Amino acid sequence: MGNTSGIPEYLAGNRAAWQEAAAEYVAPAEQNWGGEPTWGIWGIPEQDLRLLPDDLTGQRCIELGCGTGYVSAWLARRGGEPVGIDPTPNQLTTARRMQHRIGPEYPLIEGFAECLPFPDDCFDFAISEYGAALWADPYRWIPEAARVLKPGAQLVFYTNASLVVLCTPDDPDDEERPTEDRLLRPYLGMHRTQWKDSPGQTEFHLPHGKWIELLRDNGFEVERLLELGAPPGATTRYPWADAQWAQSWPTEEAWVARLRA
Ligand SMILES: C[S@@+](CC[C@H](N)C(=O)[O-])C[C@H]1O[C@@H](n2cnc3c(N)ncnc32)[C@H](O)[C@@H]1O
Repeated sequence: MGNTSGIPEYLAGNRAAWQEAAAEYVAPAEQNWGGEPTWGIWGIPEQDLRLLPDDLTGQRCIELGCGTGYVSAWLARRGGEPVGIDPTPNQLTTARRMQHRIGPEYPLIEGFAECLPFPDDCFDFAISEYGAALWADPYRWIPEAARVLKPGAQLVFYTNASLVVLCTPDDPDDEERPTEDRLLRPYLGMHRTQWKDSPGQTEFHLPHGKWIELLRDNGFEVERLLELGAPPGATTRYPWADAQWAQSWPTEEAWVARLRA
């Protein structure tokens, strides 16, 4: 892993946590790399959400926080020319192994979404599934996404619903305590979230109004906001997520925005 001096503490903390967690993401990578696109903790099929353009032929795509890289593999199979960026070497090692085993190959770059090593106006499509969308500071990565996208390009990101964050207990003695049907923390002012059972890690969530303000301030128009619960009969490997709860309230959200031409 690269030098951590000189980078903000939250970036170093999250990268260290992901170095450890990467092993748990190998099996899902093996499942997702070769499979049809499905989204998030409930595995919602792409045909139900329509988050990916059907035809990306010749389109330059960037995945912000690509992790094990399966979303970029889906983009490449639709004709796109993806580049994956992620700060965590162990995640990129899995991505490279999957490229060799299943393919296709595409560039993988070690770096943070808050500071993209690309020129202005060079991508046609940007996406993040629980990468930058959850782990990078939106007040830093959204302006960077806007900078590297061409006018008229689309940004799609998928993360935890802000509501589920408000209703999830923060109990270090029982990290599997499921979501409750009451609000457990403030909504107003929501930005950085730290959980007692995950010391050193920082997640980022915003109230919806703040997401809209931030996206618009950076030149995006919001095209869609999908608030997603659990489809009937769905299961998940994430113990905090309660399928019963998620019949009534959203556990995840997907934003689709387009940079003004
Ligand atoms: C759950 S994974 C999501 C990626 C992919 N969908 C997957 O499941 O492998 C979260 C990823 O966010 C990455 N990440 C953490 N901090 C980041 C940052 N500041 N910028 C971009 N990615 C970051 C982590 O390294 C990790 O690989």
